[in-house]
Amino acid sequence: MLAATAVRLDADDPLSGLRVGDHPDPEPREGWTTVRLRAASLNHHDLWSLRGVGLSAERLPMVLGCDGAGIDEDGNEVVVHAVVGDPDFRGDETLDPRRSLLSERYDGTLADRVQVPRRNLVPKPAELTFEEAACLPTAWLTAYRMLFTQAGARPGSTVLVQGAGGGVATALVALGRAAGVRMWVTSRDEAKRARSLELGADQAFESGARLPERVDAVMETVGAATWEHSLKSLTQGGTIVVSGATGGHQAVTDLRRVFFLQLRVLGSTMGTRDELERLVRLMAATGLRPVVDSVLPLEDAADGFRRLAGGDVFGKVVLTRPA
Ligand SMILES: NC(=O)c1ccc[n+]([C@@H]2O[C@H](COP(=O)([O-])OP(=O)(O)OC[C@H]3O[C@@H](n4cnc5c(N)ncnc54)[C@H](OP(=O)(O)O)[C@@H]3O)[C@@H](O)[C@H]2O)c1
Repeated sequence: MLAATAVRLDADDPLSGLRVGDHPDPEPREGWTTVRLRAASLNHHDLWSLRGVGLSAERLPMVLGCDGAGIDEDGNEVVVHAVVGDPDFRGDETLDPRRSLLSERYDGTLADRVQVPRRNLVPKPAELTFEEAACLPTAWLTAYRMLFTQAGARPGSTVLVQGAGGGVATALVALGRAAGVRMWVTSRDEAKRARSLELGADQAFESGARLPERVDAVMETVGAATWEHSLKSLTQGGTIVVSGATGGHQAVTDLRRVFFLQLRVLGSTMGTRDELERLVRLMAATGLRPVVDSVLPLEDAADGFRRLAGGDVFGKVVLTRPA
């Protein structure tokens, strides 16, 4: 089958280890099922894998890709949940210490076919195209869990999103807007601030700007570069949810602010299969759709990776396979 695989790991030149070409079909596995993919989308995770973060040389060649949608063995249209846990683990699979994401231990979705545990399939509603559905399992699921599960954002509350242009950030703005949350964003870039307002942000500020009032929650994926501003922006008892650290992971925290204002600092990673199912239903019910930066055939995966690595994307890069 055709697949985009990591064949070599290179911290400085990740794209040099990407190969788009023939790869063996998935081997049948007890309790697992095969999905014929129609669309998959790229994440920074794929670039990190090519750099050797979360993927070790002895696992190569590894099919890349966490996000995918396609057709299962019974002909149903499905979205693929990317978190693969220990089958004996009970409870929230994001807390399973043995969990992995597709493409870390098991081959991923940038291929004609992917094999996953049967429980990882979520029905794809007819309202969503394969391209749209393939954007949801990583960045959008992460945003859903940050906003609704971790922060418990309620209609009418105010939530600040740091770094408006990222895949998680754009998903946060759109999801919050759909749920009646007042979404504020920051960005260093005027064009990204303007795009955020078009997406449904209520107000957009320069990074580090003083806000007109304190917010109920802050969504952090930037990290060190915005952390201090995030803490200062929170109201008493407010919540900061952090799921990434693109701008550095060593941040200074004024603990007096944390205890005196009774702030809550919560980490968040991916989401559960049930959260993905609810996210998919929310999209179908509201008409909300993911922002797609570009759609390319899987054969042109290297062009998609170059776009992502160049840092100029707004929304998701989607790779497709014919019906
Ligand atoms: N925990 C999880 O499950 C999970 C899931 C998905 C992603 N992530 C992580 O979340 C992070 C965000 O990923 P993403 O793909 O959504 O977005 P991204 O492309 O990594 O960028 C997010 C934003 O970070 C800001 N930024 C980048 N470098 C910066 C710097 N040096 N100083 C200040 N701001 C900077 C930019 O904001 P402006 O240019 O707009 O200012 C950018 O829009 C990544 O670290 C990713 O690994 C985690």
